[in-house]
Amino acid sequence: MPHSPFTQSGGSSRPTPSNLNAEVLDFSSKRIKSSTPVAVVTGGSSGIGAEIVRELSHDHLVLAIGRDMERLEAVVESVASSAPEISAAGRAGSAAVDESRVIPVFADLTDPETAGEIILEEATPLGRVDVLVHCAAMAPRFTVEDATPNDWRESFATNVIAPAEITRSLLPLLRMVKGTVVFIGSGASRTSVPFHTVYSASKHALQAVADGLRQQVGEDGVRVSTVAPGPTHTRMSQESSQHDYPVQERDFRMDPTSVARSVRHVVDAPEDAVISEVWVRPRY
Ligand SMILES: NC(=O)c1ccc[n+]([C@@H]2O[C@H](COP(=O)([O-])OP(=O)(O)OC[C@H]3O[C@@H](n4cnc5c(N)ncnc54)[C@H](OP(=O)(O)O)[C@@H]3O)[C@@H](O)[C@H]2O)c1
Repeated sequence: MPHSPFTQSGGSSRPTPSNLNAEVLDFSSKRIKSSTPVAVVTGGSSGIGAEIVRELSHDHLVLAIGRDMERLEAVVESVASSAPEISAAGRAGSAAVDESRVIPVFADLTDPETAGEIILEEATPLGRVDVLVHCAAMAPRFTVEDATPNDWRESFATNVIAPAEITRSLLPLLRMVKGTVVFIGSGASRTSVPFHTVYSASKHALQAVADGLRQQVGEDGVRVSTVAPGPTHTRMSQESSQHDYPVQERDFRMDPTSVARSVRHVVDAPEDAVISEVWVRPRY
């Protein structure tokens, strides 16, 4: 694991916002180590997140976050075998930048504090975070009647607190390059989906996180967007349909690449614009 100038030994195990900023000030006065833009994508091991990793790897060095290292390695391999490498010029002067365009990182988001620390440690040697995409989520189907407090806690830790905490950790690096934060929402971000109450509540909360953050960091030049897909062909939507609760009969799910292309649209927004919200629905 790369050494992080923010990791403290003894005393408080985690940097406070004030000493974190001091460290970053000190750090930012040094040369930015990666001349290639850096993207961090949670949920990079599967479905929509894996497609976002593939899409952004065309012009970013991507930290792909997940728990299943086999699946993450498969994404790394597919990128390595599919497209040309980042140009030598893009890597010039960057000893810290990995040879590959995708770096797999293990982090379990059910422990948001540790996940935030791990991702910050991995991103710090690269010296910048241009794009942060929060794609990881869990979507167990629960009604209020069936969900236990622990079910609520686990979903909110993964779907809401981890994105907030990871953003908090990476904000100094995002501010340095006026980066973009993308939250992957859902139709459930605005409307509660039947038999999906816990998930819907977490996606509503994530929307509020995104909207509040946008107002807070806009003046620093950091852009914040929500990309909210409708039903998409992934493991998550497959598992959702294997539950006792009723399911929609017709399969009208989109391809995950369609969502990844919308993320690309947000990331490539003109310099003077922020695309704050994108709803991506199945056409048929
Ligand atoms: N599929 C749809 O119909 C649909 C519709 C609307 C919105 N969405 C949203 O799209 C996003 C991606 O979902 P998907 O459909 O692509 O599902 P997916 O294929 O099941 O992918 C979910 C991803 O989240 C990661 N993840 C889940 N819990 C985690 C944890 N505790 N720690 C670290 N990583 C964790 C998984 O990592 P592991 O490999 O380690 O499990 C996986 O990479 C989610 O935010 C979801 O809410 C999906």
